[in-house]
Amino acid sequence: MSQRSCLSIILAAGEGTRMKSAVPKVLHTIAGLPMVAHVVKAAEAAGSGELALVIGHGADEMRKAALKFAPRAEAFVQEKRLGTAHAVLAARAAISKGYDDILVMFGDTPLIDPQALAAARLKLAEGAAVVVVGFRTENPSGYGRLIEKAGKLVAIREEKDCSDEEKKITFCNGGLMAVAGRHALKLLDQVGSKNAKGEYYLTDIVEIAAAQGFDVVATEASFENALGINNRAELAQAEGIWQQRRRREAMLSGVTLIAPETVFFSHDTEIGADTVVEPNVWFGPGVKIATGAKIHAFSHIEGATIASNCDVGPFARLRPGADLRTKAKVGNFCEVKQAIVEEGAKVNHLTYIGDARIGAGANIGAGTITCNYDGYSKFFTDIGEGAFIGSNSSLVAPVSIGKGGYIASGSVITESVPDDALAFGRARQRTLPGKGKELRERFSQAAAARKKG
Ligand code: UD1
Ligand code: MG
Repeated sequence: MSQRSCLSIILAAGEGTRMKSAVPKVLHTIAGLPMVAHVVKAAEAAGSGELALVIGHGADEMRKAALKFAPRAEAFVQEKRLGTAHAVLAARAAISKGYDDILVMFGDTPLIDPQALAAARLKLAEGAAVVVVGFRTENPSGYGRLIEKAGKLVAIREEKDCSDEEKKITFCNGGLMAVAGRHALKLLDQVGSKNAKGEYYLTDIVEIAAAQGFDVVATEASFENALGINNRAELAQAEGIWQQRRRREAMLSGVTLIAPETVFFSHDTEIGADTVVEPNVWFGPGVKIATGAKIHAFSHIEGATIASNCDVGPFARLRPGADLRTKAKVGNFCEVKQAIVEEGAKVNHLTYIGDARIGAGANIGAGTITCNYDGYSKFFTDIGEGAFIGSNSSLVAPVSIGKGGYIASGSVITESVPDDALAFGRARQRTLPGKGKELRERFSQAAAARKKG
């Protein structure tokens, strides 16, 4: 299979007005990745080397976005939206280069399974000229019906062109089609605008090819493969299915999810075996977790690297650049951003650590703040190995605390502290015996006098 060359054409010229959005429909995200990028990933996973993106509405924005998730894709603009066959022909220049396999996919059908693509390619390799990936549903309304005669696919009939009898067919066109490269242009060029709307249907190539004696085949895939997104309710439905798949995959690879339906992954979350994720955890993009970590309930994690046996949360927020080394601990109501927390260091309670390094085994007391920003620039705080930062301290960056340094509680540290030094950065305490009682009496008499007067 891998020796066969393959072009994937992804149709993404839909207007998407039902999303009620300034953003082109296919750039709306699932698990943090534009839905069209999910389709690109599936095409790549099925061994499709070349990619053509057919775009219309928001072409410039689409081109810019595609650079990120499909840098090698060639973009073709379909100026007028005249139907799916017309859209495919916008990529005529790419098709003409000559490929063994052509896959046609929709940019708004993000849950497509690479296995369904691979299965369709296999049929091409076996000699089929057109392969349609179908699915069965109890509610086929809106979908093109697959018309079979004597076990052979002979046509796809769009809902509005169906007879009452044909409307009862529950085997539907999922929208994914594979066409033998050497016949593709010939077949596509024969599609005329047969319908009332003057649209050129890609689906008509089935009837054309079948009538000319080509081998036309339908394969079957699950409903998700065909789930097209037209509004935000369907977007949420697709997100739900994606998350369900990912949770299952995580659990089967050795991750414990205590309440899987409350854990949300990003498209790129990496998570090692024997990690336990408690309920209500959110992973944003760019998270890598090694083995045996504990992610306690209600943590929000993005752009963070978490080494083995770390302990995070409950209620922790790890932001981009948080880099927790082996057995580090970041506890409740702590925020860590762009900071290395070295082996065994502890940041346990109510703390902000930003633009910093915390040396191995250091202990950061409750309420510690690295004051990293002066309103204009960010500055770095370096905390040495084994240092102890007393509770409620402010470390005003740039500043460094040496190895084994000891900071008294409530300090505001503005000057660097050498190794093993003890630093106080707070007012000295004064205790006046009996003064508390005296003060109370004075205040109560004053209040009584005010009431009388
Ligand atoms: C299409 C299929 C139908 C199938 C259904 C599955 C055709 C004629 N019909 O119907 O058999 O059951 O998908 O979801 O193919 N597009 C363009 N340019 C166009 C028209 C469409 O790029 O001129 C793109 C759209 O952005 C979309 C895709 O093609 O991504 C499908 O178009 P859509 O209008 O959604 O087709 P359906 O009516 O859903
Ligand atoms: Mg559709």
